Amino acid sequence: MANGWAISGLDLHIDLAGPRRRAALETAIRRAVQEGTLAPGTKVPPSRTLAADLGIARNTVADAYAQLVAEGWLSSRQGSGTVVSSRAQVTAAVPRRADYEPSPPRYDLRPGRPDVSSFPVRDWLTATRAALERAPHGALDYGDPRGRQELRTELAAYLGRARGVRADPARMMICSGFTQGLALVAGVLRRQGRGRIGVEAYGHRLHRDVLTEAGLTLTGLPVDGQGADTSRLEGLDAVLLTPAHQFPLGHPLSPERRTAFASWAARTGGVIIEDDYDGEFRYDRRPVGALQALAPDHVVYAGTASKTLAPGLRLGWLVAPESLIVAAAEPRARSDVHTSAIEQLALAELISSGRFDRHVRKARLTYRRRRDQLVAALQHRVPALAVTDLAAGLLAVIDLPPGTDEDAVVDQAAESGLALAALGEHAFGPADRGPALVVGYATPPAHAYAGALSRLTAVLAEVVRVQG
Ligand SMILES: Cc1ncc(COP(=O)(O)O)c(C=O)c1O
Repeated sequence: MANGWAISGLDLHIDLAGPRRRAALETAIRRAVQEGTLAPGTKVPPSRTLAADLGIARNTVADAYAQLVAEGWLSSRQGSGTVVSSRAQVTAAVPRRADYEPSPPRYDLRPGRPDVSSFPVRDWLTATRAALERAPHGALDYGDPRGRQELRTELAAYLGRARGVRADPARMMICSGFTQGLALVAGVLRRQGRGRIGVEAYGHRLHRDVLTEAGLTLTGLPVDGQGADTSRLEGLDAVLLTPAHQFPLGHPLSPERRTAFASWAARTGGVIIEDDYDGEFRYDRRPVGALQALAPDHVVYAGTASKTLAPGLRLGWLVAPESLIVAAAEPRARSDVHTSAIEQLALAELISSGRFDRHVRKARLTYRRRRDQLVAALQHRVPALAVTDLAAGLLAVIDLPPGTDEDAVVDQAAESGLALAALGEHAFGPADRGPALVVGYATPPAHAYAGALSRLTAVLAEVVRVQG
């Protein structure tokens, strides 16, 4: 997938797609010079700054600059940095981006992704090296479909202390993200003839698709300020919930509803799938603990590294009754067998070294700051609009004036290079909230965030002007 990046200060977009980052960076700069986006004499950012912005090694940027200097695109003078060479000439037609490859948005405020440019590269390298040095040869052989014992043990302890989960390694499975874990659990439910599942009326469409593809029948559960309600559980075999932080509306499941779901499960043998996708990110007080602790024999707790570290890792975990783990592990032997052992061992090492907790603490501060910037920008430019449930997570819901066409606002924003998501994209069944936007504030990278916010507030100010 192509990623959009801006060179700090220059607002120039670069696609760093694929593994050959140096080549991709060189191509992007050559193209920008050819197209005139980077005019002769323009100073390019210091390699350290650009490397930090792009989340790549400084040497990669320095090598790319050196190559472009050698080719005559850039010139470098002691003490005055690197500039676009005045001799750089437009030499050839620039190959056009393939039609099937959509341009990345200039500014992306859609929910769903963390700031991947702050992935702890050094810590991950250290953890991988230590893990490989310590791993027995057998670790590189086919392994247990439930995942490496080392990681299950570290995660059980981490989830107990950080999320209040009652976990032990025998009741756990490492999977390739929440999505795979959900598909595996859905497969078990279908094979057991438990085909009717309730999903929140606002939720992740992909997850509904996973459940439908597994052959389950979905019922929408109404959602209000206390989370999903329990009025439509009659006849259901299972429910999928986001208790710590309702996705995408943001509030936690209230204590009364938690108890009500847990008692329903205990009474009927129903299964609760708890999607704890961003439970680590709570800003006002200690994170809300997992629902799983109330009913460990009825809840499948599902976590992921996609928000705390990066979605590209494809690491997630299930904590569930042992029989369910065994039943979910069985079909894995016929698909991906298990999640990459090296990634698992590296994560185990990252957690045991304390670096994972340190990274999460740092990320929490960064996201909190971004949230505060978003709130300040909205209060300053569009005080008429309400932003709700901002105590946690990486997203905010901005209510639009009644009657506003959400999709038109999203289209209008796209024209100024800003990608936004409408709340309606997440709706299913009894979804009756008014028009709103779901803004993910974990992206874009730091240098482009202020630009994204000013575009957002400009679009919203126009909405208020027209509707008002
Ligand atoms: C509600 C929700 N759950 C879970 C996930 C994580 O999915 P995965 O672990 O498959 O990347 C996401 C990611 O966007 C999400 O929005």
